[in-house]
Amino acid sequence: MAISLSFFPIISTLLLVLSKVTEAANGTVVYDFNIGWVTSNPDGAFERTTIGINGEWPLPIIRATVGDQVIVNVKNDLGNQTTTLHFHGLFMNGTTEMDGPAQVSQCGIPPGSSFTYNFTVNQPGTYWYHSHDKGQYPDGLRAPLIITDPDFPYADQMDEEIVLSLSDWYHDQMQVWIPKFINKANPTGAEPVPQAALMNDTQNLTVPVQPGKTYLFRVVNIGAFAGQYLWFEGHNMTIVEVDGVYTDPAEAELIYIAAAQRYSFMVTTKNETSVNYAIVSSMDTSLFDTIPDGLNWNVTGWLVYNDTKDKPEPALVDEFDDFDDFTLTPYDKMALLPEPDQVVSLDVIMDNLGNGKPYAFFGNVTYVSQKVPTLYTVMSTGENASNPTVYGEFSHPFVLEHNQIVEIVVNNLDTGKHPFHLHGHNFQAIARSDEDAGVFDSTNSTQTTYPAIPMRRDTFVLKPAGYIVLRFQADNPGVWLFHCHIEWHVDQGLIATMVEAPLELQKTLTIPQNHFDACAAGGVPYTGNAAGNTVDVLDLSGANVAPKPLPAGFTPRGIVAMTFSALAALLGLATIVWYGLADMGAATMRSEEKRIAAMNHETTDITPVGGSVNSESDEARRR
Ligand code: C2O
Repeated sequence: MAISLSFFPIISTLLLVLSKVTEAANGTVVYDFNIGWVTSNPDGAFERTTIGINGEWPLPIIRATVGDQVIVNVKNDLGNQTTTLHFHGLFMNGTTEMDGPAQVSQCGIPPGSSFTYNFTVNQPGTYWYHSHDKGQYPDGLRAPLIITDPDFPYADQMDEEIVLSLSDWYHDQMQVWIPKFINKANPTGAEPVPQAALMNDTQNLTVPVQPGKTYLFRVVNIGAFAGQYLWFEGHNMTIVEVDGVYTDPAEAELIYIAAAQRYSFMVTTKNETSVNYAIVSSMDTSLFDTIPDGLNWNVTGWLVYNDTKDKPEPALVDEFDDFDDFTLTPYDKMALLPEPDQVVSLDVIMDNLGNGKPYAFFGNVTYVSQKVPTLYTVMSTGENASNPTVYGEFSHPFVLEHNQIVEIVVNNLDTGKHPFHLHGHNFQAIARSDEDAGVFDSTNSTQTTYPAIPMRRDTFVLKPAGYIVLRFQADNPGVWLFHCHIEWHVDQGLIATMVEAPLELQKTLTIPQNHFDACAAGGVPYTGNAAGNTVDVLDLSGANVAPKPLPAGFTPRGIVAMTFSALAALLGLATIVWYGLADMGAATMRSEEKRIAAMNHETTDITPVGGSVNSESDEARRR
């Protein structure tokens, strides 16, 4: 605890957060979280309803030390929505029931109910916690989680620690956005573009520093959508951790942090204090189909050496030459895992279903959550738990055997970037193609062509029309999602379920009564197969399914887009055109243009289709 206590003053002034934390005896950390609506206005542009904890927002950082038991007592005071907490990056080995995704390892906690998360942390480093229910975390329920390491290998090279969160920010609630986004009026699946970027949940962050010191920055992208380019003017960064994995020191000038990724790096301050320096984080506008008028996709903070001096405007940058995380070497030098026992091959496809709405698919399956949380199906289907059928086709289940080596190959048949995350594990990232490389061809790859010491992390970016290859050992019995961490794509179903060693799990796991109570209070069944059938668990009739596909012969996106754009034009319905009809081809062609604009801090020549995004939120504001 020594490190975290001595840093506490600086962190608390930075984040203005006083968490309700009880340090009980002997390494137990207890948080009591009343989750409820508050108002906030972090970009100074719009006050919105936001999910707070104990009446406050920004949220408290969860802090613990390696070996601690962490207890989070949640009371859901939202009144109108269920909620859950996921502790992103923690393996939860032995406690998969504490992992958090609703209808996966628990029921959503109904309004008025309580739920206790109780787990032991054995991993040091930089993590975060967020709601894993209803696409809800962009409404504010997300914050860093830091596990202090008494044996941090770079402890003697650093003086102080600073936690830095990066985020995108929306003015409307997810329950307003999601039905507009997954809507036949938005056939291209254009994701809502955030209204602002935030750094430690503000746009006016100052980080007081002293000359000649080395600070360990722990950076977390707690955003919903946008990756962020981050740089410190006049200072280099020395990366020492990604997603809880220590690395050999690596020098970087600019790093790209996708949604859900974390980096720790050291920054050594100058020996004189006459100038302050900008810290800039710039949202990756290549992810946006349109750039709304007036959007500032950058957020600036400052390293303040001297508070009587100016806080300078950042200079323009010519290009984003970001550090390649594939080149990192884990500090522990863990070797390439052996050839896989099982290969899970997933093609990312964005397409429409017969209802005209845009969905996301692995292969031909879009994820639909099931009537019974998948973990509870494991616990109540006996030997059939090793048969994927019981989990329902649309949970997209893969049953993994205990300790086998699993390889996940993801081919991107889409033109966007996708940061893929696996619960319960770090994976070795053994291959990543450049953009437009096409699908992975295993015939050209053998053990010797992969890195001998691959980098590991829990969230890894798949490039447009390229591929990634990931490996891990199934040494953690549990139910673990694999999904894109762009929350819009989660809402669209870009999720597969890894059911790892289900029969082991039945022997070792006991679900606390308190978890079943939450189901009962919400009227959610918690035994039987995905459909809640406890008698014939191989009978999935009544299970939740995706909408039917379009009839054969349709090229859904084109035809639906054309139909609706014609309709919109005819009827002149601003509500239909508002952002949905951005032309995908034009959006792709514009990406280079947008990047240049990003460098110049201006939006010249960009078709302001998204301008109507603003009108839409203006309208929402007036309501
Ligand atoms: Cu941050 Cu499913 O995770």
